[in-house]
Amino acid sequence: MRKTLIAGNWKMNAGPTEAKVLADEMVAKWEGKEFSQEALICPPFVSLPFVVKSFRDTFFKAGAQNVYTENNGAYTGEISVSMLKELTCEYVILGHSERREYFNETDDFIAKKVRKVLNEGMKPILCVGEKFDQRQQGDQKAVVQKQLSNILSLVNESHAENFVVAYEPVWAIGTGETATPEQAQEMHQFIRSFISNKWSDEAADKVRILYGGSMKPANAEELLSQNDVDGGLIGGASLKADSFSEIMSIAEKLSKN
Ligand code: 13P
Repeated sequence: MRKTLIAGNWKMNAGPTEAKVLADEMVAKWEGKEFSQEALICPPFVSLPFVVKSFRDTFFKAGAQNVYTENNGAYTGEISVSMLKELTCEYVILGHSERREYFNETDDFIAKKVRKVLNEGMKPILCVGEKFDQRQQGDQKAVVQKQLSNILSLVNESHAENFVVAYEPVWAIGTGETATPEQAQEMHQFIRSFISNKWSDEAADKVRILYGGSMKPANAEELLSQNDVDGGLIGGASLKADSFSEIMSIAEKLSKN
């Protein structure tokens, strides 16, 4: 059984002071309570050590929003996998649509990062998803297939358990628009069957596929109930302890059904 992953992407929000307060609030909400699934928060790099500290001795995990392909050296402004491991991070978000759009990240570059992260024993959360006009044209599956294709050739299926995909339709990010549960399930199922064709059924069965795009307490239950939706990558609603915890509670409840 795949464990549900409820992941927060804080994007460029919450500097060290605010991040610490918010992380402490989340921990306080779950004080004395059990969470059998996985909860992850990915703050900005400068806030990461503070969030790691707040989460120490709790089930909450802290992860990163990006990483570079080299271990160290003259790469001004970059952060390496070993640096993240030193902070005890397990997860790193890669290929987010905002990085593709504003920082010109290509499928090739993202594939190299995914390979590096997996080879170093960390877990990438690879973001894929179509833009509004691409969906209008009915191209959503072709777009996502192209985003996944290189990576699945570069990476060995033995990494399946550590490989996480986030389907994030760009038109649903930060817009309040959400994919319907049926649209999400259709894309998640497509992604899993594409992985199964490239790798194998057993490997595809181990890969977790998260949904991202305006997930909030009001729509989380129907999205997370879908067969191939194994969690959420949550932006706006992860910046409030209340709403993030509520989504976690929904995941916990569904895991008991
Ligand atoms: P929102 O939840 O704010 O739509 O953001 C989704 C996202 O981009 C998570 O990576």
